[in-house]
Amino acid sequence: MSFPKDFLWGGAVAANQWEGAWDVDGRGPAKTDVTTGGTVNTPRYITYIDKDGNPGKVMQFGKLPEGAKFAVLDDYHYPNHNAVDGYHHYKEDVALMAEMGFKQFRTSISWSRLYPTGLEKEPNKEGVEFYKNLFTELKTHGIEPLVTLWHFDTPLYIEQNLGDWKNRDTIELFVRYVTTCFTEFKGLVHNWLTFNEINNTIQFLDMMGNPSDKDFQDSYQHLHYQFVASAKAVQIGHAIDPTNRIGCMICGITWYPATCDPNDILANRHAWERNIFYCGDVQCKGEYGTYAKRLWKEHNVNLDITEEDLADLKRGTVDMYTFSYYMSQLVTTHEVKEKVGGNFSAGAKNEYLQYSDWGWATDATGLQYYLETIYDRYQIPLMVVENGLGAYDTVEADGSIHDDYRIDYYRPHIQAMSNAIDNGVDLIGYTTWGCIDVVSAGTGEMRKRYGFIYVDMDDEGNGTMARSRKDSFFWYKKVIESNGTHLD
Ligand code: BG6
Repeated sequence: MSFPKDFLWGGAVAANQWEGAWDVDGRGPAKTDVTTGGTVNTPRYITYIDKDGNPGKVMQFGKLPEGAKFAVLDDYHYPNHNAVDGYHHYKEDVALMAEMGFKQFRTSISWSRLYPTGLEKEPNKEGVEFYKNLFTELKTHGIEPLVTLWHFDTPLYIEQNLGDWKNRDTIELFVRYVTTCFTEFKGLVHNWLTFNEINNTIQFLDMMGNPSDKDFQDSYQHLHYQFVASAKAVQIGHAIDPTNRIGCMICGITWYPATCDPNDILANRHAWERNIFYCGDVQCKGEYGTYAKRLWKEHNVNLDITEEDLADLKRGTVDMYTFSYYMSQLVTTHEVKEKVGGNFSAGAKNEYLQYSDWGWATDATGLQYYLETIYDRYQIPLMVVENGLGAYDTVEADGSIHDDYRIDYYRPHIQAMSNAIDNGVDLIGYTTWGCIDVVSAGTGEMRKRYGFIYVDMDDEGNGTMARSRKDSFFWYKKVIESNGTHLD
């Protein structure tokens, strides 16, 4: 086993799934605050008041009707409002992470906690204070913060009134926000990620069913503005503190052709280009790949890209490539008999793999494949910043939780990372997803648990929020202690 001695072991959460306190100390709302809870079979909804004053809802990735306004409605449960109350429990949570020996903890900053509408000229002092306290607490315990600047949570005001990332003006508002982050948290945070799973914007199109050319136009434009915003953030972060290390964050899925039909092989190559390389190439190489023109042409996309944007993309390439990894997916041009889920995607079933209760394929070999493919392409340090198994946990009468299925998931994934390192990949860190149970992003459930730390909270918002240690807690502690050599 060959993890470098300063390997950054740890875990990850996101502000909107962990903190709660959605309207506390001046925080403004984000889209997750108007998103209801769902289940494995029922979608999450976004709620609104239509132009005639009637309440309504659309599916999580749907569009509001003309003239409707996002709204929190009675009769619905919004799980992100309280989440697992990390806002008030952070000291306890950090102490538990320290007990496991974490070297690094990944969380995000809630933009609307610092800028409630996104338009203010000065940040909300209480928001700044909260993150200073959190990062100081981590440092005191010898844990490096790894901070995502955007985790699906633009302030709702921007989303409602400016059209979110479809509007170029959002870039400047983001620049103001990140400048505050780099300035206020200078010295406390050195490792940053710009946009979480930035490539999901493209993958969401598949979830829409029959996306129109207009949907493609909007999505590619949205992405372009995020690329420019990310590149500006990298430049600002480096200027404020040259020791800052700033990464992209890609939803890493390993795509395989379902058959050896050459049409499937070509379709698979195109899936890598569209879903994975499109964003990675811009953020790591500072320019669009040659295939981008084909992708745009396929859907009559015509982008607003200026010379200044292109210069920014070149100047703002990232220092490291970070990604989430949960699964592989199949690509085929043939009829798909059985569809399975994914993180914000869906595809054909792979008969060689096992699937979780939420239909996600477990494929540790795919992680090695992904690491080696990506490192070969960009040759910059890599971090796996999300990986884990969402599963039902049972609390025994004595309070113990025997989650051996979670340990069985992690073991081969850690082995896969070790193999990739042996094969020359410069992998510098690993943060498992939901190291403490949090609200699921895809379903809004609490019962889809990822943590080493259990939180007493159910899907309806009942529970004490008490934290307890699962069996995997003690196992991961040993993994970290042994620097990845003790996996039994
Ligand atoms: C990633 C997201 O897509 O997957 C996280 O970055 C999310 O926010 C994680 O929680 C797991 O997905 P889910 O739907 O099981 O919570």
